[in-house]
Formats: sequence, C-alpha cells, structure tokens
Amino acid sequence: MKRLTALVTGASEGLGKSLAFELANRNFNLVLISLPASGLPELAAFIRSNFNVNVHYFELDLTKAELFTGIFDTLSAEQVPVDILVNNAGLGNWSWFEDKNIDFYKTQIDLNITSTVLLTRLFLGQVDKSHPSYILNVGSLGGRFIVPRKQVYGATKSFIAYFTKCLQLEQSGTQVRVSLLSPGGINTKPELLVLNHSLKGISRATILEPEEVAREAVDGLLKGKKEIIPGAINRFLVLLDAFLPGRIKEMIIKRKLALG
Ligand SMILES: NC(=O)c1ccc[n+]([C@@H]2O[C@H](COP(=O)([O-])OP(=O)(O)OC[C@H]3O[C@@H](n4cnc5c(N)ncnc54)[C@H](OP(=O)(O)O)[C@@H]3O)[C@@H](O)[C@H]2O)c1
Repeated sequence: MKRLTALVTGASEGLGKSLAFELANRNFNLVLISLPASGLPELAAFIRSNFNVNVHYFELDLTKAELFTGIFDTLSAEQVPVDILVNNAGLGNWSWFEDKNIDFYKTQIDLNITSTVLLTRLFLGQVDKSHPSYILNVGSLGGRFIVPRKQVYGATKSFIAYFTKCLQLEQSGTQVRVSLLSPGGINTKPELLVLNHSLKGISRATILEPEEVAREAVDGLLKGKKEIIPGAINRFLVLLDAFLPGRIKEMIIKRKLALG
C-alpha cells in the first residue's frame, strides 16, 4: 500500500516536533516546515535514520504568504503529493492587549490564521479526493474560554475552530477528514514549563506533555474525529463549561486574574 505523506508546520519545536515523531513512528513520510536556522536539516536527518521514512523540509517564514504556492509546486515537481496537512505553527501570548505592539499582532494573525487558511486551500487543490486525506488544524481550549491576556491568541483559535467546523461540513461528501485539535496547556518550552509548574490543583492537572497530545491527536485524526480534546480533565472541563452560567464563569476568571 502507498505510504502517505504528512506536511507539518512549525515542526522544529514543541508540539509540531512531537507530531512529526508520532507520524514518523506510524510510518508516514514527512514534509517539515519551520523558520530558517531552527535545526530542520538535523531533525530531518535524525528522523530519516531512526524511522526509515522519507523526509523533505522547507525552511521558511510562514507569515510570508507569497511563499506558499512554491511549497506545493516544489513538492508536485518532486512527485510528493501531500495526503495529511497538519496546521500546527502558532504564536501565543500571555500579556495585556496594550503591552504588545502592532507588529506582534500582525505576525500572530498571519501565522495563526492566514497560514492555516491559505495552506489548507492549496492542500485541497492538490489532493485526490477519491482517496483518504486528512487535515489537522491545531486550535486551543483558549479559543473556547474567554481569557484576558490571551485576547488576540484566543480569538485566532476561535477562528480556527469555526473555520475547521465549516470545512468539516463542506467536505462531508468526500474522503477528506478534517479534525480540530483543542489542547489545554502543553509543556512545550521552558517558559511554559515554569508557568505551568506554578499552577495548582485542577489547573495543573490540565497540563499535558507534547508527546501525549501528539499521540491523542494522530489517533483522533486517523479515526476522523471532528474535535480532539487531549486529556480526560480537559474533556471534563469542556463539559462543565457547557453547564456553567456565563456570569459565574466571568466571576471565576476575574477572581483568578485579580480584575476589578
Ligand atoms: N503550548 C501550549 O500550551 C499550547 C496550548 C494549546 C494550543 N497550542 C498550539 O499548539 C501549536 C504549537 O504550539 P507550541 O507550544 O508547540 O509552539 P512552539 O513551541 O513555539 O513551536 C512553534 C513552532 O512554530 C514554528 N514557527 C514559529 N513562527 C514561525 C514562522 N513565522 N514560520 C514558520 N514556522 C514558525 C517554530 O519554529 P522555530 O523553532 O523556528 O521558532 C516552532 O517550530 C500552536 O498552534 C499553539 O497555538 C499550544
């Protein structure tokens, strides 16, 4: 049987790197994308020699939309059709709205929203819809809960959730499966590790390691799950959220953030 190829954005670090390992471990060929000088050649060589899969990579800035067509043109010229698109690259923030400048928000929106929409459009233009293919859009539970200091980040992830759910309906008559990954906190980098370790009780229990999230994500994607929420506690919180009145949720958030 033909081995499928997965394109993973933001593959050099964090969740993207764990997703790349998880997919390689399940025998998928890979196309990795990240910024230049983020160690992609070394990562690609490591995966090739340890997992016996083909790995292509592109070192480019995903906020530069004019480069996107070139990715699929190059892969098509090299006869590498992409069967799985993982829109993972994303930029978070934990800061009051006025503490970041307009360049930051432009980059965040370009990376979190524009790259996902345009890569998805280009991907759908090249898939053979009579064979199974997959899209995994990485959202966040931050897109579901209203959290000050995540104002633009959360809004970009709400966009991803809406976009993904519409695509699921549009593609329902085809063999294209579209999944939304909605993780809670993930220990992807030192500053998050420090922040996450300062949490207590249920907040701490919602945090997962990137490898666990990647495993649940790929399982769910291949099963065609519409929304993948890694971690039993996170699934419970989402359920609880549906029952709690808005007024109570607002009170809890204000108290947590010591807002007036
Ligand atoms: N961590 C969490 O708690 C959490 C929770 C829920 C959802 N998520 C979502 O999960 C996804 C991954 O998050 P993460 O924590 O793993 O992030 P991360 O550790 O910061 O990794 C982001 C990846 O994206 C790449 N990247 C950043 N800017 C780029 C650009 N302009 N062009 C190309 N690649 C770029 C980075 O490459 P470099 O190495 O070159 O910078 C890196 O490989 C994001 O969509 C995030 O919103 C994360």
